[in-house]
Amino acid sequence: MYYLYAIHQTSMNKEPKKYNIAVVGATGNIGAKTLDMLVERNFPYANITAAASPRSVGAALRLSNGAEVKIRRIDDVDFENIDIAFFCAGSSVSSEYAAKAANMGCIVIDKTSFFRMEENIPLIVPEINIDSLSNSKTSPRGIISCPNCVAIPLSMALYALISGGLIINNVIVSTYQSVSGAGRQAVKVLRSQSLAILNGDNQEKISSTFPRKMAFNAIPQIGDITAPGAYADEEEKIMREVSKIIDCLSFNISVTCVRIPTFVGHGVSVYVELNKVVCLEELGRMFKRFPGMSFDSRRDYITPVEVTNCDEVFVGRLRQAGNGYLFWIVADNLRKGAALNGVQIAERLIKLDPDLYKFRQRKQT
Ligand SMILES: NC(=O)c1ccc[n+]([C@@H]2O[C@H](COP(=O)([O-])OP(=O)(O)OC[C@H]3O[C@@H](n4cnc5c(N)ncnc54)[C@H](OP(=O)(O)O)[C@@H]3O)[C@@H](O)[C@H]2O)c1
Repeated sequence: MYYLYAIHQTSMNKEPKKYNIAVVGATGNIGAKTLDMLVERNFPYANITAAASPRSVGAALRLSNGAEVKIRRIDDVDFENIDIAFFCAGSSVSSEYAAKAANMGCIVIDKTSFFRMEENIPLIVPEINIDSLSNSKTSPRGIISCPNCVAIPLSMALYALISGGLIINNVIVSTYQSVSGAGRQAVKVLRSQSLAILNGDNQEKISSTFPRKMAFNAIPQIGDITAPGAYADEEEKIMREVSKIIDCLSFNISVTCVRIPTFVGHGVSVYVELNKVVCLEELGRMFKRFPGMSFDSRRDYITPVEVTNCDEVFVGRLRQAGNGYLFWIVADNLRKGAALNGVQIAERLIKLDPDLYKFRQRKQT
């Protein structure tokens, strides 16, 4: 009896587990936001290791709770002592280091596109497919990919309709993507081009960050276009990733991506054809009840500026259009489009298995 009481007391007194976290690319748009999210959401970390390029080594980053972390070289990070590493330093860094880190027993949550379409790497939006992580086939490599910043809110809106029992036949999408989606340098370029134009200097040279002048413009190309008539890289990514995330996907999807001179927040205009006629109120209810999504018919739409620093995906401007429906989606690309989605994945992992054994790399048999 005393023995049982003692066990009960021990489990009652047990400190909640804390985790060693690494953020690779900590000085970038997504890395910095990931640090913010870990603090803001009280993620149970024991300590945080921050890495960036050799340019930043030794610099001190101040977290939003006042704590300071020193930036180190990625080669100096001991991944054997890291439970979860967020990789936010671009595809080439992930290609070189993510598998090594996973091999050392660390779980990698990768924000880059490098592993997203690999068959045995899960591509996760927690509100849609977190359960696939419990499927033993899905993550033998200790790496979990985070989708593209448009693929996340778009998949959520489409999945809200599928969860409402609808079948989608066709989807046509146009995006209005902010410059922060192209990294920290892109934000600087828009700022300096805008200032130059406002100061009467229209001769500011075109930066290699964008294919055309970005300030006061709209550029219908994100990523390379390899041949006339081909989709751009970003469009291909979104189409492929949405198909992978929504496993039961049987509809056609075509996407046009446009970069616009906003700083944060990606807007998406969506046309969907469904298997039946549904009233707008019913569609609105499907969006409204989907986790992480906001739909308010009284406030018909939200703009990128208003969505900055918000966690939700906002849907609005819902209309009937011929045989289909049109609506507008907007979300903070740095939060739900990237950092928040990654931290939510980590939160779910520690809930599903506090020791994380399930998700660490397993030897293939
Ligand atoms: N921005 C978005 O909305 C978004 C959304 C989803 C996914 N992503 C993906 O997330 C990744 C990061 O994007 P971002 O927008 O945060 O880019 P970013 O602002 O340009 O930041 C890049 C980060 O990578 C670091 N870095 C560069 N080379 C490195 C190296 N050799 N070793 C270690 N660190 C290195 C940089 O460090 P320094 O400061 O020292 O240069 C910086 O911290 C990209 O793959 C991007 O495609 C971005």
